[in-house]
Amino acid sequence: MTSIAAEVIVETEGAVGIVTLNRPSALNALSIAVMDAVVEALGGFDRDPGIHAMVLAGLPKAFAAGADIGEMKNITGGGAAEQQLANHLSHWDKIGNLKKPVIAAVSGFALGGGCELAMACDMIVASETAVFGQPEVLIGVMPGAGGTQRLTKAVGKQLSMEMNLTGRKLAAREALSFGLVNRVVPVESFLSEAKKLAHTIAAQPPLAVQAAKASVREALDSKLSEGLSFERQSFFRLFDSQDQKEGMTAFFEKRKPVWNGK
Ligand code: HXC
Repeated sequence: MTSIAAEVIVETEGAVGIVTLNRPSALNALSIAVMDAVVEALGGFDRDPGIHAMVLAGLPKAFAAGADIGEMKNITGGGAAEQQLANHLSHWDKIGNLKKPVIAAVSGFALGGGCELAMACDMIVASETAVFGQPEVLIGVMPGAGGTQRLTKAVGKQLSMEMNLTGRKLAAREALSFGLVNRVVPVESFLSEAKKLAHTIAAQPPLAVQAAKASVREALDSKLSEGLSFERQSFFRLFDSQDQKEGMTAFFEKRKPVWNGK
């Protein structure tokens, strides 16, 4: 186990990289230092050929209660916010742009920047105590790291409006019913279930997984005809891979394929 900083724990489990937010005294508030460490750790896993999937976990009480309000409170107007926060906000974009799949393991509060962080990941495993929301309006601002965009794409305009304009929070089961999370599990097992999902993905051929991830993400950004064309080109490219030959040969030889990631 290596630790970039005590507030962010970095571990590996086979081909799965695990990053855990660990700042319980502030309900995992996402300071600049914490987000620097998270991006460094996930970026490292993304470049590591031995890692095929990642888990970004919080603690049982909080995934993250938002960006660190203490770091924003005294920022003045006149362009100071952009100057001081643009780089911080880019952390969320960097996580959204990772090539390998990232599963968010969410229990307790996922608010503001915390909800945005979970949504920047590819899938969310939630515990029964998870609470999602964009309460920025209650402290005089609005989301700045994707809360009006990703939430709208995930749950639709009506609910996103209500959450962003009133600070309404969603309990785990509601979040599941609106398609914001993949599954809801007992709090004791949110991390193990997220790891299980990551291991299932890590056992698939990595080139195909990464191409499929990029293609699903493309669906959020493009119109249907462009997305279909992106998908088709990605599909064709996979026929250059050894894993395509191996997968289809193993099917007829009635054996388990052995992937080499090429
Ligand atoms: C800094 C925070 C924090 C935050 C909690 N804490 N959230 N510190 N930034 N976002 C600290 C509290 O000050 C307190 O410290 C300790 O964590 C425990 O919090 P309590 O409020 O005492 O706990 P509780 O009563 O259980 O209430 C939990 C809560 C509440 C409902 C989650 O803490 C809360 O409303 N937090 C803020 C949520 C929020 O507004 N998030 C959006 C932030 S803006 P002490 O020292 O008193 O023990 C944002 C913009 C994103 O995220 C844009 C990207 C940059």
